[in-house]
Amino acid sequence: MTTTVTPLRVAVLGQGYVGLPLSMRAVVAGHDVIGIDASTERVKRLAVGDSFVEDVPGVVLDAALNSGRYSVTDDALACEGFDVAVVTVPTPLHEGAPDLSYIESAARMLAPHVRPGSLVVLESTTYPGTTEQLFVPILEAGSGLIAGADFSVGYSPERIDPGNRTWDLGTTPKLVSGIDSESLDRTDAFYSTFVRTTVRVSTCRAAEMAKLLENTFRHVNVALVNELAMFAHDLDIDVWESIEAAATKPFGFMKFTPGPGVGGHCLPIDPSYLSWTVRQRLGRSFRFVELANDINDHMPDYVASRLMRALNRQGVALSRSKVLVLGLAYKRNAGDARESPAVALIHRLLADGAEVSVADPHVVERMPTDALTRRVALTEQELKRADAVVLVTDHDAFDYDLVTAQAALVLDTRHRLDGPNVEQL
Ligand SMILES: NC(=O)c1ccc[n+]([C@@H]2O[C@H](COP(=O)([O-])OP(=O)(O)OC[C@H]3O[C@@H](n4cnc5c(N)ncnc54)[C@H](O)[C@@H]3O)[C@@H](O)[C@H]2O)c1
Repeated sequence: MTTTVTPLRVAVLGQGYVGLPLSMRAVVAGHDVIGIDASTERVKRLAVGDSFVEDVPGVVLDAALNSGRYSVTDDALACEGFDVAVVTVPTPLHEGAPDLSYIESAARMLAPHVRPGSLVVLESTTYPGTTEQLFVPILEAGSGLIAGADFSVGYSPERIDPGNRTWDLGTTPKLVSGIDSESLDRTDAFYSTFVRTTVRVSTCRAAEMAKLLENTFRHVNVALVNELAMFAHDLDIDVWESIEAAATKPFGFMKFTPGPGVGGHCLPIDPSYLSWTVRQRLGRSFRFVELANDINDHMPDYVASRLMRALNRQGVALSRSKVLVLGLAYKRNAGDARESPAVALIHRLLADGAEVSVADPHVVERMPTDALTRRVALTEQELKRADAVVLVTDHDAFDYDLVTAQAALVLDTRHRLDGPNVEQL
């Protein structure tokens, strides 16, 4: 990280889980940042210091706003005069195919403001070829300039892990790439003002592929232990003990743990960007990804079937039971419930006739499942009221002693609890 920074005018398009932490870092490094987001709702909250991203505490957002070097708006014209623009907009799937409409609209918004000497960096996770074949042509068409000759373009995938207290944006090595060597140098120089280590990758395509590989690796390994957990249960072997034992090997093994399925903006989506590309470009199927999708998507159903069997042993039918689901977020200590396996599990339990209550102190936004469930606090009364409790997301904020003391039956999908009334996944 350099110590003296030449302040740049930075526009960050997308003020979500990726764009907001990035904006805060850039402000601390000394840059002037304008955060632009298409959601008026988000902009209104951020403008008064109300952060919805756990990794950006309100005090950090307040400090940035008070510094006079950060402002947030939904007005695209505000990016006028930028030196560096970073695009951190969503890249979801639409009917199983990559939806790059957000990247396209962000590029169209930026293009009229690109000047000779500008640097534009794409951060969104996407399939190889997006930066050069989709992003650059839109910037060129809207600006009348030539990428490489007149302005620079980079790709630098984000690696943030919300809630991770060890590795953050500043400490996690950041991949940087560019459409040519000057773009690479400039992208590297920009991130080096607030990231400790940058890793230069020779092409945007290789950097785009690297990001997809990272998430596919995790997705496939989670599927492996999820399938193992289902077999181990039927074989009457404690899979958690086997995993812990295997993890004592100091080389050649990396520990992954089973769970109720995968969620968030990355694991359930990014590998499909890769398999889609392989199918489109090569006409072949990426079998590892498809198998992993199949197994991980099945996990909420499996959890529901395990709960049904556990309730049966107590003489209670799932269709007449009251179930308390602990955790709505897709991961521990986070408030993000996008693609959460908890939502799939809740729908399955409701379809089977259960009455479902949900406790999650981190998820504040309203969820579509709210109309069908009760959102409750984790109390002794709620635990006693339920025929069964399912621990889906093991937030540190939950009082686990209270759970094991008061619940009639607990299905623990995270291996967090112990006791005669606790059944492990
Ligand atoms: N969340 C993560 O942990 C994570 C980690 C690594 C990479 N990523 C990737 O980063 C990208 C962004 O993810 P995120 O989690 O920050 O998404 P997000 O939904 O939290 O934030 C994206 C924001 O972009 C805004 N937006 C959409 N179109 C826009 C436009 N044209 N101009 C300005 N703003 C616009 C949306 O309103 C939203 O607030 C995705 O490609 C994702 O795969 C996410």
